[in-house]
Amino acid sequence: MMRLQYGIAFVLLGLFCGEARSQTPSEVFEKRIVPIFKSPNPSSCVQCHLAGVDLKNYILPDAELTFRSLRDQGLIDLAAPEKSKIVQLIDMGGAAPKAPNAVHAKVRKAEREAFVAWIAACAADPKLKVAPKLDEKDRAGPARPVEVIRHARKDQMLDSFEKNVWAWRFRCMNCHTEGTPQNDKYRKEFGDRVAWVKQEGAAATLEYLITSKLIDPAKPEQSLLLRKPLGEKHEGGLKFVVGDDAYKGFRAWIEDVSAIRGDTYATAKDLPAVDVGPERFGTDLWLKLTDCPPAWGDMLLQVRIFAWDAKSKNWEESAIAVSDRVVFGKGKLWQHNLTLLADKDSARAKAWRSNPSLPDGKYLVKAYVDGDGKLVKDWKAALGEADYAGQIEVQATWREGYGSMTAADASKVRK
Ligand code: HEC
Ligand code: HEC
Repeated sequence: MMRLQYGIAFVLLGLFCGEARSQTPSEVFEKRIVPIFKSPNPSSCVQCHLAGVDLKNYILPDAELTFRSLRDQGLIDLAAPEKSKIVQLIDMGGAAPKAPNAVHAKVRKAEREAFVAWIAACAADPKLKVAPKLDEKDRAGPARPVEVIRHARKDQMLDSFEKNVWAWRFRCMNCHTEGTPQNDKYRKEFGDRVAWVKQEGAAATLEYLITSKLIDPAKPEQSLLLRKPLGEKHEGGLKFVVGDDAYKGFRAWIEDVSAIRGDTYATAKDLPAVDVGPERFGTDLWLKLTDCPPAWGDMLLQVRIFAWDAKSKNWEESAIAVSDRVVFGKGKLWQHNLTLLADKDSARAKAWRSNPSLPDGKYLVKAYVDGDGKLVKDWKAALGEADYAGQIEVQATWREGYGSMTAADASKVRK
């Protein structure tokens, strides 16, 4: 009995001394929300949103205005502060299937606790409950429209990354994939920076590249990720030329990432056109053209490969694979790995997501040569009928690996 009385006395003492006195909403706001607003660091939202929206967008310098702004947008639940929509937005990172890095997790925890404490304080203030509605134009929220917010989400960027960069990785991965013997060797010599193709796959590589120094958002075309494979002081040598398919993909993707990072997309109209072309799948299947005509020497040659359709007894209308590279003039030789093409969400595309391969059989190889170097002048230009250099039928048994190439005699190519 005595002990209980002491206990009650201590609690009362605590209350009177002010320690347990609940803080006013504006005190909590000043102490916990303002630091988030003023912090030079991005909020936890950047774990998924590269641009377009940030927690700061929802905060106004004034406590009461911020409250009214959030309340009138339906982002605050006074009955259950933890269930407020603004808290749910903060929680999104915690619900992600892949564990975020420790920095995001720590930032998010602080943001969550701050908002829950502040909303709880607001709920306890009868004055705020009856505060008048805030004019719509004075409410705080993301400056960018939803289309831009969506475009700048990492999960949305993955499709474009797979198509534009990942599909051409076979030109790079032997040397740049982390954890491979070749990469381990280079790593010892040149440092961790050479391990930019991540073992876990496309999403992890995207995650690394988008914020890496290999992209120069101010001058996208000067990005190391383009200059190195163009042969500029690159231990790996010339891996693509201006205007070829891999360059086009890398360049388009780097331009997009730069625009997102620089927050230059203001409206839906500014976004790049939706790419309706086929999905692309990189492979280690190789084609070689021997005895190339001297006229093709040292020029960019693209092949488009068409499969035989036994049903219609004709070549398929769309190419099933492409590849491009400069012809080795002295050796009269052209050889390169293939990138497979399939309509989005087709049965082929689905099968190739786990195992891109081509059945054995007869194929039509069409060659296009950039005779006047038009792609160097305009990297967005495409080779067309004017560049058509002829075609040849091949009987192919496609096997992976440089040592198992399908070969065709280019001197037999006819228009
Ligand atoms: C783990 C990833 C992740 C984190 C972290 C994240 N979001 Fe999102 N956000 C998403 C996804 C995914 C969607 C799309 C949800 C949907 O369409 O249902 C989305 C949608 C949104 C939208 C709606 C836009 C639209 O498409 O209609 C807003 C606004 C938003 N988030 C704000 C935020 C804010 C603010 C934060 C930080 C406090 C945040 N998000 C943190 C993944 C995230
Ligand atoms: C034959 C091996 C090899 C191939 C293939 C190769 N590279 Fe490299 N690359 C290297 C080595 C070794 C380095 C480190 C030395 C240097 O900077 O040149 C390097 C460096 C780089 C760097 C600079 C990394 C940094 O953080 O500074 C980039 C970017 C790069 N390569 C891009 C590519 C791209 C893109 C491809 C494919 C289109 C490619 N490389 C193909 C060997 C290769």
